[in-house]
Amino acid sequence: MTTPLVELRGIRKAYGSIEALRGVDLDLHAGECLGLVGDNAAGKSTLTKVLAGTVIPDAGEIRLDGHKLPFTGPGAARRLGIEMVYQDLALCDSVDVAGNLFLGREITRRGLLDEDAMRAQAREMLDRLGIRIPRLTATVAGLSGGQRQSIAIARAAAFGPRVLIMDEPTSALAVGEVEAVLALIGRIKATGVAVVLITHRLQDLFRVCDRLAVMYEGRKVAERGTRDTGLEELVRLIMGEGAAY
Ligand SMILES: Nc1ncnc2c1ncn2[C@@H]1O[C@H](COP(=O)(O)OP(=O)(O)O)[C@@H](O)[C@H]1O
Ligand SMILES: [Mg+2]
Repeated sequence: MTTPLVELRGIRKAYGSIEALRGVDLDLHAGECLGLVGDNAAGKSTLTKVLAGTVIPDAGEIRLDGHKLPFTGPGAARRLGIEMVYQDLALCDSVDVAGNLFLGREITRRGLLDEDAMRAQAREMLDRLGIRIPRLTATVAGLSGGQRQSIAIARAAAFGPRVLIMDEPTSALAVGEVEAVLALIGRIKATGVAVVLITHRLQDLFRVCDRLAVMYEGRKVAERGTRDTGLEELVRLIMGEGAAY
């Protein structure tokens, strides 16, 4: 096993009397996809939000390449290469594909948006990620759910992140669209990014994840190589049975 790119240690977070995270340790590796699973309210989203800097933990630390993360917000995490794709796609419906890819990172020339440069780079980004969107000048409102999800992922993946977190990227998609998004996740992983995938679609995990971590009531209760487990055991672990390593 290689040295972990990211090490989370003893992460705790309470909301009033609710202990969302009760001391979680987790490692992420470059070029690997970790599936994070657990029942509703197990703490999956909170844990990844801590990593992405949008939730400040009460205790614990995170190291990226051996360096402690500052916990000063999402901007700092992003600058260090930690990107998160949120469940509810934060795309702007009235903006075109290229504009969405460069949202918050617009290219300007003499103070004006450089649409041509953004379009050219958008095309290059999408090609590199193997995403087929014929017209970059179309607003994203008219695209399918799968295309929109791909654009949201591309936006996070395109600027060289080291860690990419996806919270339920396939949950809202039609069956036929899931495949393309899973393939995209596989390609991103192959570029050396440490991917974290949260999903209730357990069958998807076996397609793209190398390792699975199971959370139960704020704790990581099991970790398995994807090859060393199956649907049946996973379901038992998610339900909190046999919560031992
Ligand atoms: N901002 C918040 N305020 C209060 N409670 C929260 C907040 N975020 C999460 N929680 C609570 O923390 C627990 C873990 O939630 P979450 O991390 O969203 O779980 P999961 O993603 O596994 O469903 C839940 O009980 C949830 O209600
Ligand atoms: Mg969640």
